[in-house]
Amino acid sequence: MKTYLVTGGAGFIGSNFIHYMFKKHQDIHIINLDKLTYAGNLENLKKVENNPNYTFVKGDICDKKLVEGLFKKYDIDYVVNFAAESHVDRSIREPELFAKTNVVGTVTLLNVAKTAWEAESGFKEGKKYLQVSTDEVYGSLGKEGYFMETTPLDPHSPYSSSKASADFMVKAFYDTYKMPINITRCSNNYGPYQFPEKLIPLMINNCLGKKPLPVYGDGLNIRDWLYVEDHCKAIDMVLESGRLGQVYNVGGHNERNNLYIIKTIISYVHDNVDSTVDESLIKHVEDRKGHDRRYGIDPEKIKNELGWYPETSFEIGIVKTIKWYFDNKDWMKNLTSGAYEEYYKKYYKM
Ligand code: NAD
Ligand code: DAU
Repeated sequence: MKTYLVTGGAGFIGSNFIHYMFKKHQDIHIINLDKLTYAGNLENLKKVENNPNYTFVKGDICDKKLVEGLFKKYDIDYVVNFAAESHVDRSIREPELFAKTNVVGTVTLLNVAKTAWEAESGFKEGKKYLQVSTDEVYGSLGKEGYFMETTPLDPHSPYSSSKASADFMVKAFYDTYKMPINITRCSNNYGPYQFPEKLIPLMINNCLGKKPLPVYGDGLNIRDWLYVEDHCKAIDMVLESGRLGQVYNVGGHNERNNLYIIKTIISYVHDNVDSTVDESLIKHVEDRKGHDRRYGIDPEKIKNELGWYPETSFEIGIVKTIKWYFDNKDWMKNLTSGAYEEYYKKYYKM
């Protein structure tokens, strides 16, 4: 039985990953280490909480003693590091927190795993540390071209700079110690359980409550959208078959601008839920500082080496996602009645 230490497993992608892994594999043990910040939500994991092969530990990835204790107690085969501060707007306001969690947290995990996995010559067999990174480390694209694994890193926001710093630390552990690692860099994820501060769940939630839909700047910034389950599949494949020391970009040629996304959501809600919801809800607001214009991933390497491809087109994924939020209104209500509502009032002033 393989044992996975999944960090940040109560967040959006981490919880989807835990569900994906238990569906796909019979014989695995997952330890979920999560600090339960505003973004961590144990409701995301209700379906697995009684699974004897699932263990939840509340704690901080920066807490070296706690992480060492986990490596002493369990024979951990894989570390999958999702834990992070993940929202660009928050990083612009609180850069220090992002450096602490995303950089210091990553080095803490790496160093403890290295000590636990070291053998007489090299590392014990079958161990791997996987860093879940982001396409934002490459910076911003013009109209042409794609991010490749060889594209030089050029992060702009405190968030992407902290993720790039973490990537360099992971690379350093490979270059210096030959520690078994992989880095995945994916594009914007969407799907169930995403905290409604990010574009898609925020717009769905605001359509539900008939609140204004805040569009930063001209709304023509482009992101490359990836359905979260396709991302989970990629991580599983990289863990199993990724060449040690390699970076894999994960994305699916699903580039859309923000206004297109918002209008798609409005149109679905208008036609299927509430015909009074329309484009008059769109409100252009001040642009994000240092707003990256375009992200676009070249996924050829993971496709050619591991046979990964995204199964969900944007048109199918967005409808599945909108339906999920409508079918899970209580999930959203529990979040939006607390910290989110304060956050929204404070920063959107609408
Ligand atoms: P999220 O904000 O939804 O979840 C982050 C989780 O990490 C939360 O459960 C939170 O409680 C936990 N956490 C935060 N600080 C912690 C700490 N110090 N110790 C332990 N746990 C801590 O994030 P997400 O969108 O699921 O993203 C997961 C990872 O994927 C992040 O590393 C992010 O940079 C990366 N990523 C996300 C996207 C995306 O579109 N969401 C795209 C590319 C990469
Ligand atoms: O590319 C991967 C990254 O995608 C991840 O590494 C990050 O963790 C994740 O948060 C996401 O970052 P973005 O900044 O691209 O996502 P966000 O949902 O915050 O914004 C998407 C686009 O929508 C961006 O151009 C800003 C715009 N936007 C966002 C919000 C929240 C708006 O116009 N209005 C909004 O209210």
